[in-house]
Amino acid sequence: MKLAMIGSGYVGLVSGACFADFGHEVVCVDKDPRKISMLLAGEIPIFEPGLDALVARGIAAGNLSFSGDLAESVKDADAVFIAVGTPSRRGDGHADLSYVYAAAREVAEAITGFTVIVNKSTVPVGTGDEVERIIRDANPDAAFAVVSNPEFLREGAAIDDFKRPDRVVIGGNDPQGLAVMREVYRPLALGRSPVIEMSRRGAELTKYAGNAFLATKITFINEIADLCEKVGADVQEVARGIGLDNRIGGKFLHAGPGFGGSCFPKDTLALLKTAQDNEAPQRIVEAVVAVNDQRKRAMGRKVIHALGGDVRGKTVAVLGLTFKPNTDDMRDSPAIAVIQTLQDAGATIRAFDPEGMEQAAKVLTDVEYCNDAYSTMPDADALVIVTEWDAFRALDLKRVKDLLKQPVLVDLRNIYPRDIVEAQGFAYSAVGR
Ligand code: UGA
Repeated sequence: MKLAMIGSGYVGLVSGACFADFGHEVVCVDKDPRKISMLLAGEIPIFEPGLDALVARGIAAGNLSFSGDLAESVKDADAVFIAVGTPSRRGDGHADLSYVYAAAREVAEAITGFTVIVNKSTVPVGTGDEVERIIRDANPDAAFAVVSNPEFLREGAAIDDFKRPDRVVIGGNDPQGLAVMREVYRPLALGRSPVIEMSRRGAELTKYAGNAFLATKITFINEIADLCEKVGADVQEVARGIGLDNRIGGKFLHAGPGFGGSCFPKDTLALLKTAQDNEAPQRIVEAVVAVNDQRKRAMGRKVIHALGGDVRGKTVAVLGLTFKPNTDDMRDSPAIAVIQTLQDAGATIRAFDPEGMEQAAKVLTDVEYCNDAYSTMPDADALVIVTEWDAFRALDLKRVKDLLKQPVLVDLRNIYPRDIVEAQGFAYSAVGR
């Protein structure tokens, strides 16, 4: 099959490279000429484990290419995927659909023969209808179907999520369009991943409902963690205790500093807007958003508390800046609020992150960035782990203690066993334990 990806950002690039690896002929298109020339030169503009090798393999096999020429790229495609950004619109939290609509207009004018227009961008319910209208208006003779095919990729694990998905959701009711989509996803049949078909609106809402539910699960366990701290229970035990119930499931029950990233914060807000517009308030998700927002600064206060309530003039060593490991993404990272809370209270910050420091330096200017974990520590008054990178899981605790001015460890991801850390003489605080 001939596929075109409009937008070579995170979703477009990962999906395009994976489709090419399955043997489809894929061209990834982007408006940004710099991005295209980087990709043509074999450089990957984002950090995602395994993506560089996958892209190189696709290029070498001759079925993955990059182009700035949208019209030429979509002309003969069987399916054109719209995978452009849908950021929160400034001021009201609505998803900004201008890139999606602009892409639809351009695609409409260039397609020939029957083409499936696949919406992969995260878009509010009803966007597919609007895209269909736009294409019909721009090119009344076009033969096309618009389907929704939301993505469920996690940053850092995106290739595996793409190739071995829990499910693929396809929304639409045009038989010819659905037949093309079945063919596009046929390579997944071997792995028996369910490919489920539903209405287009159902698929659009599935994406938001899925992310909102996961955000709710995290926020639920975070609040249970707070209660654990008050009553002397351990949230990891409680999470395991409930997670083994198949109806609940053990995933996404890790208590921590709150969810961040490019998806949950933006998608929960967009769902609330859709809910308001349709007079179906989502009180639970409203609470999730509010609780999570407050939590990030509360984690900063937790560090202040661990340091006796006053951090003025003190130095805090911070490990992990990205919103989660295996990414360089700083968007809505809890580390931002934690660090700003500490700085507001007068602390100096030294920090290290394996991949995120370049992005971090754009949002957190007044931080001393270090070359490795240990160089954050000399004479610091506390060590705070904000993101659970593997590299922080087996720190040499004796060395850490020798380097710090005082042995205070705040573990916001619960990666250390309390007894081991305390046996080394640390004052240890974690989340919900
Ligand atoms: C999320 C979803 O997991 C994907 O399925 C979805 O496709 C994607 O959004 C999207 O909409 O594009 P992602 O944002 O990459 O993926 O990251 P997650 O692994 O879901 O983590 C999100 C946040 O929740 C992180 O800050 C993470 O640290 C936090 N989290 C996650 C917890 O605090 N506890 C957990 O148990 C799990």
